[in-house]
Amino acid sequence: MLSNLAVRDIETLVHPYTNLATHRETGPLVLESGKGVYVYDSAGKEYLEGMAGLWCTALGYSNQELIEAAYEQMKKLPFQHIFGGRSHDPAIELAEKLKEIAPVPISKVFYGASGSDANDTQIKIVWYMNNALGRPQKKKIISRLKGYHGVTVASASLTGLPNNHIDFDLPLPGILHTSCPHHYRFAEPGESEQDFSSRMAAELEEMILREGPDTVAAFIAEPVMGAGGAITPPAGYFEKINAVLAKYDILFIADEVITGFGRTGNMFGTTTYGLAADTLSCAKQITSAYFPLSAVLMNERVYEVLVDQSRKIGTFGHGNTYAGHPVGCAVAVKTLEIYQRDKIVEHVRSVSPTFLRRLTKLEEHPLVGEARGVGLIGGVELVRDKTTKAAFEIKKGVGPKSVFFAQQEGLILRAMGDRVAFCPPLIMKEAEIEEMFDRYGRALDKTLAWAKAEGLLAA
Ligand SMILES: Cc1ncc(COP(=O)(O)O)c(C=O)c1O
Repeated sequence: MLSNLAVRDIETLVHPYTNLATHRETGPLVLESGKGVYVYDSAGKEYLEGMAGLWCTALGYSNQELIEAAYEQMKKLPFQHIFGGRSHDPAIELAEKLKEIAPVPISKVFYGASGSDANDTQIKIVWYMNNALGRPQKKKIISRLKGYHGVTVASASLTGLPNNHIDFDLPLPGILHTSCPHHYRFAEPGESEQDFSSRMAAELEEMILREGPDTVAAFIAEPVMGAGGAITPPAGYFEKINAVLAKYDILFIADEVITGFGRTGNMFGTTTYGLAADTLSCAKQITSAYFPLSAVLMNERVYEVLVDQSRKIGTFGHGNTYAGHPVGCAVAVKTLEIYQRDKIVEHVRSVSPTFLRRLTKLEEHPLVGEARGVGLIGGVELVRDKTTKAAFEIKKGVGPKSVFFAQQEGLILRAMGDRVAFCPPLIMKEAEIEEMFDRYGRALDKTLAWAKAEGLLAA
């Protein structure tokens, strides 16, 4: 029996990333409040938030300091744009802070309101820059299969997932996808991680040569693939990719939308995996998701070209109303202050061994083919046969079923096909981590019983 709120939801909302047909039958999970690493539904049931919302609520759900930072800024100056050379204190202070903590030398910061628009900005900067440099043919951008970079027309084109392209007439021409560096799924039998990484780099180089190096402008990658399945890179991968990009003068855009601000046990995933990034896209944990805000961080080489070109054209003709929103910037400044004061990176490092121990222990379960992670992010792949790695038929929905059972057990996770992601708030403590995996263990047992009853397992 659907609640009154559920009925009103069905009558009024189109939900992102939802099967809109089944949603009409099942209705929403209506969440009402949050405290620390827990959220509560409209019936008062408690859930551990194993996904930090959507990889974003690093400081949990009831951080009074963030609430006060927003309130104080709302009282003082609730809005001021930064078009036409206007500015304000929070935008300047945040940019200074970002430059200070950036993993590579950064010259300037450009603000937006979402990860998607940050990546659109990246594309536009790359195109603008290559026109300015007198090489208008150097415009193609290479992304990766299973990479996730957003949903706007351009950023969805970067995204390497079929559901973001099918019937949306995407990707745009000039956006290409190279191989997905998921060792468990795509390595040849007996191929080491290093050898697999070499092959991935060689495939990237072949693509560049096939297209013509003078037509390829940039490469974009997440240090850890998020929505593609929480996939950590194989050993040596970025080192080898860096070398290929440097050889052909191809800009490296690091998409730090999930990995930025402590997630991998360093302030940035770029540091954890040694990306030779020229520019970075940041969002989500930049405000612990208490306010929508994104930032493109660019080096001096990129910035100089933008300056020269805007001198020539008369303006840098890009930016949206909420770019550098003072409330968002004030919340971000406070968020970064808390990360540093409370030593969030050190905290992640101290609890990560427990997280990774419990995560990898899931591989002992009959349904789990792979469980890997870094810092406080990890992915689990459910398979029909562990020996052969045979997958379930995707439409049987085994991954989503395990997430449904997790929800029954009071745990929120996210399934991407038969891969299930763990990405809890960074403030999660050891006991809560143990509890999270206890709950998922019970959910997996229920999933196994269900799969057996449905006759889904290998004979
Ligand atoms: C790596 C990455 N880039 C970009 C985006 C898009 O961000 P948004 O949903 O804020 O547009 C996401 C969203 O999950 C992401 O994970």
